[in-house]
Amino acid sequence: MRGAAAPGTISSSGNMVHMTFGRYGLGLWRFTHESVEVADQLIHSAVDCGISLLDNAAVYGGNWGGRGFGAAEELLGAVLKRSPALRAKVCVATKGGITPGIPYDQSPATLRRECEDSLRRLGIDRIDLYQVHRPDLFAHPRETAETLMALRREGKIDRVGVSNFTPAQHQALAAHLNVPIETTQPEYSAAALNPLRDGTFDLCMRDGVTPLAWSPLAGGRLVTGENIRPELLAVIDELAATHGSTREQVAYAFVLSHPAKPVVLLGTQKPERLQAAISSPLQSLSRSELYRIVAASEGRPLP
Ligand SMILES: NC(=O)c1ccc[n+]([C@@H]2O[C@H](COP(=O)([O-])OP(=O)(O)OC[C@H]3O[C@@H](n4cnc5c(N)ncnc54)[C@H](OP(=O)(O)O)[C@@H]3O)[C@@H](O)[C@H]2O)c1
Repeated sequence: MRGAAAPGTISSSGNMVHMTFGRYGLGLWRFTHESVEVADQLIHSAVDCGISLLDNAAVYGGNWGGRGFGAAEELLGAVLKRSPALRAKVCVATKGGITPGIPYDQSPATLRRECEDSLRRLGIDRIDLYQVHRPDLFAHPRETAETLMALRREGKIDRVGVSNFTPAQHQALAAHLNVPIETTQPEYSAAALNPLRDGTFDLCMRDGVTPLAWSPLAGGRLVTGENIRPELLAVIDELAATHGSTREQVAYAFVLSHPAKPVVLLGTQKPERLQAAISSPLQSLSRSELYRIVAASEGRPLP
């Protein structure tokens, strides 16, 4: 199937109004560019490809040569200031709830302060999708939900999402919220299969939650082959040869093929690689191809 990313539109299903995020989003974990011009070029390239979801986090900028906590939000804020017309074309997603050194703090005062700091760094009035980055194991979900609902009432956030939550943690938070959890963000790739069996995708399909698959290339390792089972690489290479495509296109197609309709969070910071992903002729794999990848990834045949 050939398909470009749909723009971030809002569609109605029953009584609930869900946001659709397209098939690909741009991840900003590695958004540590020195110059605003280069950063601006990347965001424009993404939008030109039909990508609207920009996945940031308060903590991004702390790795990959960045200037530290908050730097990726500041850089996106600088891009939006430089190119104000972009604001209406993108879905600004960010995350809070990680406090380096603690490491997780979703107590009401901290989560609220983090969200307000993100708004200031991004230079926007409202965050389109606010995600709890990693669960605070010592936060009561009722308190987290109350904070998120208050931020929403105040117009500071629109949609709510979670990231790295177990299905039980997800449901505990959902039980206290008066709005749906729209997204969940698990690691998912041909090299990281947990959402297939840990209940994450089942929950998504039951409740209409959109999974945002992080590290779809296992951080690039599915291309370089580093620390990847040789049998998995061999299957990927064989499928790439069969389809006349590349390792990364097979890896993206693997993610896209799940019926929970995961969004591929592209981590590349190269416009030409964004373009190659979106315009790939290979946007899904057959069942037998998917099961070959699963078996090779797990290193044992399926029963
Ligand atoms: N919620 C969480 O806890 C969490 C954790 C991790 C990530 N994430 C999200 O997921 C996003 C994606 O994660 P990721 O950056 O690890 O994604 P990825 O797509 O798995 O890896 C991207 C890396 O692979 C490299 N790469 C090497 N060859 C490539 C090729 N042929 N095509 C494309 N990329 C190639 C890229 O380098 P170049 O830039 O040079 O192309 C980049 O360094 C993040 O930005 C973030 O939004 C979330």
